[in-house]
Amino acid sequence: MLQGKTVVLGVSGGIAVYKAVELLRLLTKAGAEVHVVMTKSAQQFVTPLTFQTLSGNPVHTDLFNLYQEQEIGHISLADRADLFLLAPATANLIGKIAQGLADDLLTTSVMATKAPVLLAPAMNSNMYENPIYQRNQKLLREYGYHLLEPATGELACGWQGQGKLPDPELILSAAKSVLAPKDLFGCQILITAGPTREELDPVRYLTNYSSGKMGYAIAAAARQRGASVTLVSGPTNLSVPEGVSCVSVCSAEEMRSAVLEHYEAADIVIKAAAVADYRPVRRAEQKIKKSGDELVIELEKNPDILAELGEQKGARVLVGFAAETERLLAHAAEKLQKKHLDLIVANDITREGAGFDVDTNIVRFLHADGRVEEFDLMGKDQVANQLLNRVALLYQAKRP
Ligand code: PMT
Repeated sequence: MLQGKTVVLGVSGGIAVYKAVELLRLLTKAGAEVHVVMTKSAQQFVTPLTFQTLSGNPVHTDLFNLYQEQEIGHISLADRADLFLLAPATANLIGKIAQGLADDLLTTSVMATKAPVLLAPAMNSNMYENPIYQRNQKLLREYGYHLLEPATGELACGWQGQGKLPDPELILSAAKSVLAPKDLFGCQILITAGPTREELDPVRYLTNYSSGKMGYAIAAAARQRGASVTLVSGPTNLSVPEGVSCVSVCSAEEMRSAVLEHYEAADIVIKAAAVADYRPVRRAEQKIKKSGDELVIELEKNPDILAELGEQKGARVLVGFAAETERLLAHAAEKLQKKHLDLIVANDITREGAGFDVDTNIVRFLHADGRVEEFDLMGKDQVANQLLNRVALLYQAKRP
């Protein structure tokens, strides 16, 4: 969502300025071109050089600096931006914008832009609760500005309360949300992610290398595009994306129950989970003790959840994944057809940067109408958005 986008990062003065450095790093990592504008007081906390080095662009500080004005100019900055992101946004900055004051480069640029403006406030909790601040915040929301809620915790001044700058990851996700098309608004999406665990005894289980990253990236992107998202997740170390409702499961049987429970309400189902095809016939009550030279474990078939969904598909959009080590297209096409899918994402997990437990993937989309689309290496969030572009069209085509 941020790839190739121009973001103006406006930094105003507060102790949380150091977190804006991390935010800048996340924005550039996500592919955004970032131009930083700092207020005078922000420069008391971190020097412009830090932001300049990390953004690769000159930092703008002065409304009346002829060199900066010639190079880019505040109006040009306001025009070129796809997004204005103000973090940290102090009570003073928010107050000035709400009152229409434009007495420095940052407030002037904000006033001059037609781009969406996202503010991440940070201040002392008493300032946050002050009715004047609350009124300013309300006013900005009414004008269409996007404001995050500050986090609660221990503040730099030693106070406990609400006023901390939200986590940079959360600000990044909100920025993506602001820029995302809302083409999945009003739609219910059910997504599965991660591995399943099939227990042998109280201390051992069968599983696979799925980290959940692919499914969680789809859940985050779907939420940013306006969908109501239920994520059914096997065991992972990931945080549930903002605004997503998550059901944690362990075994394939548990995943099946959770998926079936939410299937009725779903308009779209995307199954990115790596479900174990087999499970031990018996789970030992006690830890299995070392005995002979060999131990034979008898396995039985798990239910194929996606195939079962395909049988009772109705008007839903159904998407599967296939992780293959050989004959990628043939195997994926077989699953597409057998499970009555609209689309299957085939990943060749023998390729570096693709498949399990990495941040990237190399995928092909096989459509039910026979089309095959091939992609180069992309971040999993980019794969998620490419997939959702197709899913949104399929969803719209199926609506009466
Ligand atoms: O989690 P990551 O580390 O990010 O890795 C992502 C991934 C590689 C796990 C993901 O991109 C992926 O490919 N998931 C599917 C893995 C797989 O091999 O699926 P499969 O070929 O066994 O199954 C095909 C489809 O049927 C899948 O959508 C699967 O969720 C579903 N299935 C499979 C078996 C089963 N018993 N029930 C199912 O619903």
